[in-house]
Amino acid sequence: MSAHSVTATAPGKINVCLCVGPLRDDGYHDVATIYQAVSLLEEVTAMESTDFTVSFSGPIDTSRLTVDESNLVIRAARAVAAASGYTGGADIQVVKRVPIAGGMGGGSADAAATLVAVDALWGTNLGMPKLAEIAATLGADVPFALHGGTALGVGRGDVLSPVLAKSAFHWVLVLNEVGLSTPDVFRQLDRHRAEHSIEIETVAVDPAIDSKLLQALRTGDAMALGEYLRNDLQAAALQLMPHLGETLEFGETHGALAGIVSGSGPTVALLAADEDSASHLATTLRSAGRNAITVSAPALGARLS
Ligand code: C5P
Repeated sequence: MSAHSVTATAPGKINVCLCVGPLRDDGYHDVATIYQAVSLLEEVTAMESTDFTVSFSGPIDTSRLTVDESNLVIRAARAVAAASGYTGGADIQVVKRVPIAGGMGGGSADAAATLVAVDALWGTNLGMPKLAEIAATLGADVPFALHGGTALGVGRGDVLSPVLAKSAFHWVLVLNEVGLSTPDVFRQLDRHRAEHSIEIETVAVDPAIDSKLLQALRTGDAMALGEYLRNDLQAAALQLMPHLGETLEFGETHGALAGIVSGSGPTVALLAADEDSASHLATTLRSAGRNAITVSAPALGARLS
């Protein structure tokens, strides 16, 4: 690569716990979530240009992604230019591996890697605190893609604190051909809560994380972690895509310790006891016609490569 191009990577994520509070006035929900970055990386190469452009390639179908000014990658690059006073542009190429609209923060990872890449390309040196501030203006999950590792997210999910998780966990991700829109899944949850307000206990205004989950992460105990996986969006995702229930059941009866819909779905994350079990489970899923891959977690956040 020439001196005028810079490459950065950023990880996709799963939410091992996602507690969702009520709808706020700004259209977001307060959440308490534990993010874990996984070893499925987006790769972003930025080249000097007078304009701002983005293109996508990679193992997944990116043909339907919009590449105009509304794309989060261009918004991220423009935000760095605006914050630093840089007057040029960038031609940005993304190798996409994280599923689109898959509940794994792929678009957020593209944005996070772009922040790091253009900041280095242009020599604007905004530094992590400023990039994190910009990340929060781009989307609720973008700060985590920058941060990586394992972290507690509160507020919209953008106020982060690191969580200790030293050992690697092994997951099998079952990717779905069709995506789910995050706002649609949150809306489905609100509808469901409104319809069943008598049966459902009052939604916690201040959602919180079970300390036993944090302990399982700290001690690297996959079996215990499996017991405390929780996703308040899962029922809504299953209502919109009932076949995800079969994938969860298939995984759990074929060797997974536990399974969960990742974020707003439809990716299903199956927790395995170790690397060998994950590999075996992925093979079994693929034999049954499912698109399954193995990943380990936690992975590092956005960085130059
Ligand atoms: O911030 P981001 O663009 O990723 O969020 C997409 C949409 O998901 C929001 O517009 C909102 O409808 C929903 N959302 C939410 N509460 C959150 C995060 C996202 O309602 N904490």
